[in-house]
Amino acid sequence: MRGKFITLEGPDGSGKSTMLNLIGQYLKENGYNYIITREPGGTKIGEKIRDIIIDRDHEKMGAETEALLFAASRAQHVHEKIIPSIEEGKVVVCDRFLLSSLAYQGVGRGLGIERVKMINEFGLRGIIPDLILFFHVDPEVTLLRKTKEGGDRLEEEGGAFHKQVYDGYMTLLRNYPENIVIIDASKPIEEVYAQTINALKVGLKSN
Ligand code: TYD
Repeated sequence: MRGKFITLEGPDGSGKSTMLNLIGQYLKENGYNYIITREPGGTKIGEKIRDIIIDRDHEKMGAETEALLFAASRAQHVHEKIIPSIEEGKVVVCDRFLLSSLAYQGVGRGLGIERVKMINEFGLRGIIPDLILFFHVDPEVTLLRKTKEGGDRLEEEGGAFHKQVYDGYMTLLRNYPENIVIIDASKPIEEVYAQTINALKVGLKSN
């Protein structure tokens, strides 16, 4: 039986990493055969590409290069891990996927959603998530949460960039709502967890 492909999306600081761990715990306790993975990265080659992308010394990196590197990391991930795992019947839970590139590079970097989609499609081999959990928090809140020192090259971008990313996500939610469930991540953690698990249960049951 074919597995499921579930991705988590949201701006930096939306608390999605905490939920990722809790999703893993839920799947384990309920006996699912699953993997948790992430982008950029997820494979040995992808993790090397990730290091190049987020290195704070790489301030000269052009937006096109950045978009192509994210797409390359994703292509390897799809090829080496995501498709084989789905074919083995596993539930694949991935921290960030295509929507991140459309919001961060397409809108944040101003490359255009359609152009970024196009370069990604080359490596996607038709894979689309069965469920996208989008963690929504107002940008004012996430920007405040992200005051930690020493973030990576993208986290270090200023508020204007992250506001653009947020607006990008809002455009995507309006124009590509298929398979997306919006989680109100501004609520207390128990409530965010309940929303997440409810959406997950529905997604796991659907064909
Ligand atoms: P990550 O370390 O996973 O950040 P987070 O913990 O917030 O999810 O990702 C690194 C950064 O890369 C993050 O700021 C989001 C950004 N990103 C893109 O710009 N484009 C992409 O396609 C992906 C997958 C991530």
